[in-house]
Amino acid sequence: MPPEHLASICKEWRRQLFTDREWVRTEEKPISPGEAGGYRVASAEFPFSAYLKPLRVCELHEPRAANEKIVADIASDLKLSVPPVLLYRRQNQPSNEEVRCCISLVVYPEHHEWGQIWNLSLFPQSVQLLVRDALSSYSKTFALDLLIGQTDRNNQRNVVLGADAASPPNTEFLFLDHAMSLNYGNRWDNMGWKKVEMVPIPDILKSSLRKDLVLDGADQLADLADAHVQDIVERIPEDYMASAHRAAVIAGLNGRKHLLRQFVEQHLI
Ligand SMILES: Nc1ncnc2c1ncn2[C@@H]1O[C@H](COP(=O)(O)OP(=O)(O)OP(=O)(O)O)[C@@H](O)[C@H]1O
Ligand SMILES: [Mg+2]
Repeated sequence: MPPEHLASICKEWRRQLFTDREWVRTEEKPISPGEAGGYRVASAEFPFSAYLKPLRVCELHEPRAANEKIVADIASDLKLSVPPVLLYRRQNQPSNEEVRCCISLVVYPEHHEWGQIWNLSLFPQSVQLLVRDALSSYSKTFALDLLIGQTDRNNQRNVVLGADAASPPNTEFLFLDHAMSLNYGNRWDNMGWKKVEMVPIPDILKSSLRKDLVLDGADQLADLADAHVQDIVERIPEDYMASAHRAAVIAGLNGRKHLLRQFVEQHLI
């Protein structure tokens, strides 16, 4: 969950589809772009920055920005640890770069990639226990990864520890990068969504998951009304995600949400 003082901004970003602000590039670090390309942006009189992506032009079967928005909206409704996202249509972009982008809110002043703690066995036992305890709180967020068929979680940069050094307890893991999920590459067409698979995750998360909490997350996702999921997906504009692709995403999410509990029962220890 984002810090309390951000609650109203997060609510607003959930309610809106597109940002109504102008965003300009900043050179702020430490965020470095991934495979899709992106950069930090800021907007006049808005207190937080954001990460804009993708720069790489997307084919219609690779709706990266739309996927980010849909997943962030579902996460917001379940209070999971994914920063809020808005769609952003770029103007005056270089001709070989994407127009149909999104921005992900940068909630914390500093971020540490979780890859830094993947070698947990090298840390003292007490630290190992503390890290695993902290990560276990994200078991419900993992249920969302199962629902959306996340393919990119075994990645050193796609979870970051957001921190506010001035306020040490104000620290949380943020689950990022949902571009390659849902019906990416049309993999959910022709009932392909029925195949629920274990999300590739690093050992550090695997050994921290609490099955009871993953099941709670699965049940909360299953309880999302079909019409609610449909509303989240249907408002995405045609050029960001074509209607046939949206239909597959709706069918997939509403079908898969009922397969999660059994999958978790069978596959998690
Ligand atoms: N909201 C955010 N808060 C903090 N850091 C962020 C945020 N969004 C992105 N980042 C940082 O930017 C990096 C790149 O973002 P992201 O993983 O979404 O793009 P990408 O790797 O290009 O995605 P893709 O899988 O589409 O190639 C992240 O690893 C992270 O360090
Ligand atoms: Mg990434």
